[in-house]
Amino acid sequence: MLLWRLAVAAVASLPFWYAIAGAAGAVDLGVDPGKELTLLLGQVALAELLVTLAMTPLRQITAWAGWLRVRRQLGLWTFFYATLHGLAFLAFLLGWQWADLWREIAERPYVLVGSLAWLGLLPLALTSYKAAMRKLGKRWKTLHQLIYLIAALALLHMLWVVRADMTQWLLYALPAALLLAWRVPAVSTWIVAWRGPMKKLAKNS
Ligand code: HEM
Repeated sequence: MLLWRLAVAAVASLPFWYAIAGAAGAVDLGVDPGKELTLLLGQVALAELLVTLAMTPLRQITAWAGWLRVRRQLGLWTFFYATLHGLAFLAFLLGWQWADLWREIAERPYVLVGSLAWLGLLPLALTSYKAAMRKLGKRWKTLHQLIYLIAALALLHMLWVVRADMTQWLLYALPAALLLAWRVPAVSTWIVAWRGPMKKLAKNS
């Protein structure tokens, strides 16, 4: 299991090393590397969020406990990339001009929506440890259900940015819709019930 966890960490950290290489100029990020880096980190944050959400369905489909063993780590990677994305925005697009932040929010309200999504991730990251889980008891689960609202906010945030071309947005929105539908008990029960016949089919083919 340790090897599995390390492998997941190694894969999840790849965009970070790519971003470091990009920031150092070792990778060509085009004419506006700061903007590219911000967009890349935003996409990685959203992708990691969806992968985190996929762990419970994968556990139910495959009955392998390993998926749940990496869920917390994936959630923390999501927070890490969302934070880097926010910092990249402040550094490269805003040039640390705090006075411009309010004007930016007024002109581009999606910045506010993204910030709300990040603020939602913050308590989840801070309470992702076993001690917090024990202390919060049942409230921990309720708090962590926030992840669905955060996913919706992040998708709205992205939609606002990419309005002109929705193809890329759909690449995230469709799996997100599927993962959300999974939370409807009737849907997940139906899919898991199909596991048996599907296995038989695979054996016979
Ligand atoms: C810290 C708060 C956040 C701020 C200030 C922020 C800011 C921004 C800005 C300014 C852009 C557009 C950049 C441009 O047009 O050049 C953007 C795009 C984006 N952001 Fe955020 N964001 C935040 C949080 C988040 C979070 C939490 C997520 C996902 C979990 C996210 C995902 C995205 C995505 C997917 C894009 C579009 C990327 C693309 O089109 O390639 N953002 N964000």
